Amino acid sequence: MYDSRFWGISPLEGTSLCSGHSYLYHMKLSAAQRIRGHLRLPGDKSISHRVALIAALADGALEISNFSTARDCASTLACLRDLGVSFEQNDGKVRFAGGQKLQSPLRSLDCGNSGSTMRMLAGVLAGLDITAELIGDESLSSRPMRRIIEPLELMGAKIGATDGKPPLRIHGCKKPTPITYKLPVASAQVKSAILFAGLNAEGRTTVIENSPSRDHTERLFNGFGVAVKTSDDLNVTLDGPARFSGGAITIPGDVSSAAYFIAAAMLLPGSELVVEGVGLNPTRASFLSVLSSWGADISQSDLHTERNEPVGTVKVRGGITSTTNDHTLSGPMIPSLIDELPLLAVVGTQIEGGIEIRDAGELRLKESDRLAATAQNLRAMGAGVEETSDGLHVFGPTKLHGALIDSFGDHRIAMAFSIAALLADGETEIRGSESAAVSFPEFFELLHSVTKR
Ligand code: S3P
Repeated sequence: MYDSRFWGISPLEGTSLCSGHSYLYHMKLSAAQRIRGHLRLPGDKSISHRVALIAALADGALEISNFSTARDCASTLACLRDLGVSFEQNDGKVRFAGGQKLQSPLRSLDCGNSGSTMRMLAGVLAGLDITAELIGDESLSSRPMRRIIEPLELMGAKIGATDGKPPLRIHGCKKPTPITYKLPVASAQVKSAILFAGLNAEGRTTVIENSPSRDHTERLFNGFGVAVKTSDDLNVTLDGPARFSGGAITIPGDVSSAAYFIAAAMLLPGSELVVEGVGLNPTRASFLSVLSSWGADISQSDLHTERNEPVGTVKVRGGITSTTNDHTLSGPMIPSLIDELPLLAVVGTQIEGGIEIRDAGELRLKESDRLAATAQNLRAMGAGVEETSDGLHVFGPTKLHGALIDSFGDHRIAMAFSIAALLADGETEIRGSESAAVSFPEFFELLHSVTKR
């Protein structure tokens, strides 16, 4: 399937020397000349999780087209099945009957690698008369959950955890108390957990954000009949009890998956890439304006909405034109760039004057410590990088060289460094390349289809 000179994929045995992870595969990649093609991508992961949860709770039948193929979203569906929710799945469509009743599961709900599944499902269960245990893989088992335990307990749920980490033992509460809660960290997952729990509360639930995080939950709740309002000072309110209607939705293509191809096309002169039907929600797609300000030639067309979610076509032509002088990513812009920061650090190695990332300490709490993983791998490829407690200073422009890359079992690190490999002299080996499937199982195949050598 792959040109073995550039696309060697070989099974690995044993444990990586770099991070102590056990990996199945390493992907070998080398320099590309340009990116060319048209892509339409599987549905957005964040939107798919939320729509599946909405469908499980909706009064009417709900049909989802272009559901995400991410392993994380399969974890959400599997948990819903274990909660007694029935749905049919074929040809990228998932069809839920309306008016279903969730029941306490007979076994632990396995959220796999997915923080979104665990945190948002905890919110759903906290507002229902259900007892359940939520478990996850090694990475998820080390991630902080106090951020959801605290507000959901204020609403009346009881949640057991060890040191604030999974497994979570949840005793939900049939009549949750509406709360007003100021988020200590900008987190869409925490905001969403509270809003899901607030559906069954009698009265107004308010979440106060200090920086805007992704707003899919607000848009989709409104799109399926539950009014959620956001004020100018970032107070998000929902009046409960409230019920979802059914209907249909086509999930927009995943803009965070598109980001890898868009960055590659920008960095390889002579490239031309079109991504159709991709989500353009401003709380997710702001990497596009960052890349434009760093000299990318990016345009948007065919703009429309799907259940309040902006969608459109993105066209990128290769090459970096004139760039602004300010290459610092910091403050309120960080939440809307959070998943793209490792990739933006890779792009930063090619930008005159380099780039700086600040106020991004949350990256240390993702599927891996993404600041440390990005710094280690950039250095391995010859880039100059300084790591701070909450950011990175990446020097540029630098000619990268091929290296042994440790994915740390983290999909976004595996994919960001696959793009770095296309710019590098010599061969790059991505250890644990299989982790890409957590969000984007088709990543390497699609990358191969648009890469010209
Ligand atoms: C997500 C929110 C972000 C993001 C994650 C998906 C979501 O996490 O990093 O990949 O779908 O709400 P936080 O909410 O913890 O910042």
